[in-house]
Amino acid sequence: MTLILGIETSCDETAAAVVRDGRAMLSNVVASQIDLHRQYGGVFPEMASRQHVLAIIPVIRQALADAGVGWEELDAVAVTRGPGLAGSLLVGVNAAKGAAWSRSLPLVGVNHLEGHIYSNWIEAEGNNPDKTFPVLVLIVSGGHTELILMRGHGRYERLGGTIDDAAGEAFDKVARVLGLGYPGGPAIQNAAQTGDPRAFRFPKARTKNPYDFSFSGLKTAVLRAVQRIEGQDLSVSRKLTPGDNLPPQIVADLAASFQRALVDALVEKTVAAAQATGVTEICVCGGVSANALLRQTMREQAPVPVSVPPIYLCTDNAAMIAAAGHFRFLAGERSGLAMDVIPNLPLVTTQPE
Ligand code: KG4
Ligand code: ZN
Repeated sequence: MTLILGIETSCDETAAAVVRDGRAMLSNVVASQIDLHRQYGGVFPEMASRQHVLAIIPVIRQALADAGVGWEELDAVAVTRGPGLAGSLLVGVNAAKGAAWSRSLPLVGVNHLEGHIYSNWIEAEGNNPDKTFPVLVLIVSGGHTELILMRGHGRYERLGGTIDDAAGEAFDKVARVLGLGYPGGPAIQNAAQTGDPRAFRFPKARTKNPYDFSFSGLKTAVLRAVQRIEGQDLSVSRKLTPGDNLPPQIVADLAASFQRALVDALVEKTVAAAQATGVTEICVCGGVSANALLRQTMREQAPVPVSVPPIYLCTDNAAMIAAAGHFRFLAGERSGLAMDVIPNLPLVTTQPE
């Protein structure tokens, strides 16, 4: 049995959690900075790291208290070392190092994307923790869109990914164009509820690799539609306050049509990859996997069962870092106190066949 304390500070959530055996979530504390960053229309990196410094100790204490677990019962401290914002990552990594050193605990550095993947291993509604490899993983977050064939723990074959904007980034940018605020994903999902997804026809991107994604054309198509409707040129300087002149029904129709187009692209390519690779299951993860239309459409069209974590495990959290840390810990991985953050850390295979 393992008891792992997970710590996550890669972007704008300060999070800590205790997970048993990579599956049972004993606690999951997330201090969100969304309200702080909303006024800037996106994450303000310097503010984010300062806020992490203020929140990290109380968040870790809360995670241990909620779990009813003492430091002496832990087997290891797992922490996100990348990818993410350097200043934000540093706060979590230094807190983890301090805890590991003072309590003589092993330290395990975790890739944030691997964390998202392992959110599907946590016992929770929507997840299937008993998996048979190979599984197909679709990671859709604010910074990443990756289609990965996972042949075993720590064994990743990248089938494709975005060649421009990430899916979450597209949601956030289009929300800004429509004047819907930050974060864009939930705002667009909300606005789309009263919109007609067939009101606007947006182009489908073609990519050389059939498993790659491209969303910048879709984003530009929404912007052009807004410009046409407003009958004026939205110059770059106006992009921060557009959408103001649009009737609410048009905003709803644009949101619904955009969401439909983006979800269809994600599902179409994931289903094609699942058919071509003969996987036993599709695991969707990352902030955009909170999207109701994506969850529903993937389940309707997939040729195999679909695992999607509950909403609170889709967006950034530390339970997923503890879960990923469990499998790294079992594989014998230990990070020294010299471990540094890697803001552009790629997801690579670390386990032999
Ligand atoms: O995984 P995450 O919390 O942070 C990163 O690692 O990037 O993902 C954040 C992204 C944001 O772009 C946000 O707009 C998007 O996830 N998101 C959603 C929804 N909830 C969050 N996108 C679409 N629909 C949602 N319901
Ligand atoms: Zn994330």
